[in-house]
Amino acid sequence: MKEPLLDVHDLHVTFKVQKQHVKAVQGISFSVYPQEILGIVGESGCGKSATAKALIKLLPSHSAYISGKVLFQGDNLLQYSESQLQKVRGKDIGMIFQDPITSLNPTMKIGQQIIEGYLLHHKKTKISEAKNYAIRLLELVGIPHAISRVREYPHTLSGGMRQRVMIALAIAAKPKLIIADEPTTALDVTIQAQILDLMQQIKTKTGTSFILITHDMSVVAGYCDRVLVMYCGKIIESASVNEIFASPKHPYTKGLLKSIPRLDMPKNAPLIPIDGSPPNLTEKITGCAFCPRCNVSLPICIEQTPELKELKKGHKVACWNTAPNQDTTLKKILSTRAEDCPVD
Ligand SMILES: Nc1ncnc2c1ncn2[C@@H]1O[C@H](COP(=O)(O)OP(=O)(O)OP(=O)(O)O)[C@@H](O)[C@H]1O
Ligand SMILES: [Mg+2]
Repeated sequence: MKEPLLDVHDLHVTFKVQKQHVKAVQGISFSVYPQEILGIVGESGCGKSATAKALIKLLPSHSAYISGKVLFQGDNLLQYSESQLQKVRGKDIGMIFQDPITSLNPTMKIGQQIIEGYLLHHKKTKISEAKNYAIRLLELVGIPHAISRVREYPHTLSGGMRQRVMIALAIAAKPKLIIADEPTTALDVTIQAQILDLMQQIKTKTGTSFILITHDMSVVAGYCDRVLVMYCGKIIESASVNEIFASPKHPYTKGLLKSIPRLDMPKNAPLIPIDGSPPNLTEKITGCAFCPRCNVSLPICIEQTPELKELKKGHKVACWNTAPNQDTTLKKILSTRAEDCPVD
């Protein structure tokens, strides 16, 4: 297997809100390999965006506490100064966010924004060359009449066009990794498919890796190579996309898959939502966070948090029901309890 491009170890993100601590990300570890699209999926509030922003330290430093290691090509980005990070952001790691209107500068023409972004990291390039490059990039991302469009302001473009401009900006400096946080959620399905197709083409043409954050399992199925399923700030299952759809193990992942329409399901099969809602991230959770919503939970699930364990090569799951060492752990707990019992 290739060396990972990004290696995340035990990442924690805690927000301090008034006097409370929101444990948004609770010790996650994962890798991104060259030329792959890694999906991160999970319900609203499970920590997807907090993870994405923590990787490049884009969270407010006064309220967000980040710990762990984010190794990008071997260097820990969490130890970088702001000026070191500014050189990495945009150049080595590009970003595409959900709402391009707030990410693009409304007072600058789109061509100018691409040119500035590019020149920031390629100071020796002539402006005329950068301008031609901006036009080529806009053509590449499918903006019609790119020569004249470079002189337009973001508000004159449609949502889909603005998202394409965001992609052009993100790929301008030919980054090795692009973090795309719900890049198509605000768009209609046809435009969504076009934008995601474009990202896949960029991956193939330029070898760029993507972290694609979504709450939509069908986007994962169509576009990702591997997927991390997050629940309450933790990764509860990770595997290749084929494996997760063919053989999901965690009851939460199974629930997510039952709640979307699939071609391999009978035509009139009902979609089943997951009952209940996730626990509050400010509260201390004992045992498995999914236990209150789980219909196959065991007594141990209330007491002990299952760790993310490899079931088979490339497929990890954090569930007592599927834990490979479940029997031994249960025996250990029962024997400890027996020892604790007072002898009559
Ligand atoms: N800047 C912030 N300050 C305080 N709390 C925050 C901040 N950003 C996120 N949170 C909290 O952290 C938790 C995780 O939020 P996050 O934005 O990562 O969720 P998400 O998985 O991206 O959800 P969505 O699918 O809705 O975008 C939530 O409880 C959220 O309220
Ligand atoms: Mg989010």
